[in-house]
Amino acid sequence: MRFDVLTIFPEIFRSYLRCGVLGKAIEKGIIKVSMVNIRDFSSGRHKNTDDRPYGGGEGMVMKPEPIYNALDSIDREQNSLVVLLSPQGEKFNQEMAWDLSKYDQLILICGRYEGVDERVRILCAEKEISIGDYVLTGGELAALVVIDAVSRLVPGVLGSEFSNLEESFSDGLLEYPQYTRPRVFKGLEVPEILLSGNHEEIKKWRRREAIKRTFERRPDLLEKAQLTKEELSFIEEMKKKE
Ligand code: ADE
Repeated sequence: MRFDVLTIFPEIFRSYLRCGVLGKAIEKGIIKVSMVNIRDFSSGRHKNTDDRPYGGGEGMVMKPEPIYNALDSIDREQNSLVVLLSPQGEKFNQEMAWDLSKYDQLILICGRYEGVDERVRILCAEKEISIGDYVLTGGELAALVVIDAVSRLVPGVLGSEFSNLEESFSDGLLEYPQYTRPRVFKGLEVPEILLSGNHEEIKKWRRREAIKRTFERRPDLLEKAQLTKEELSFIEEMKKKE
């Protein structure tokens, strides 16, 4: 899978993309990330990428031509999507990450300043994504979030093809508590069941803990989760105890 990022700060991406699972996937060639510097496509003498807003007001707006020309310079795969990162976009979540992982190429446009000229939205963007209801100083962090969450769903990126299946959100539930050595840390013991070697019981315990945690922290997620009759009555019991 290939990502092409349009940005005026390509250096933001380099160190993050060298590290960990993502770094390995790039080294192996499973994932490719290229940065295109929007400034290289500015025609003015000063290579400006922003200008004052028509109608007045605070701040600067990113000019349309450099972004349009930068996009034009990219080789498009057949199965590709152009995404604009902005706080006005559709909210990013795990389901969207799965959908995006089906593309061969994602082209990510990172805005800066007070936003981008509306013509970029109309002419270039096929999808607009926000990573949450807060305003960042630019789309670069949001692009990294999308690259990270999507890449780990691409086959071969994680050690085992299945290691992402049990995690938070992939079955609509938060993850169960995890423990490693030592067995006792600052007086806190690892739950006995995890030391029992009884895989069936451990699986049941983890499922119950995942449901309990989701109920306590993100009850909104339970509406979409796939639950058995037994699990639904377990939730009813917890509700009564509240
Ligand atoms: N650019 C600035 N804020 C953003 C956000 N919350 N999501 C995506 N892009 C952004």
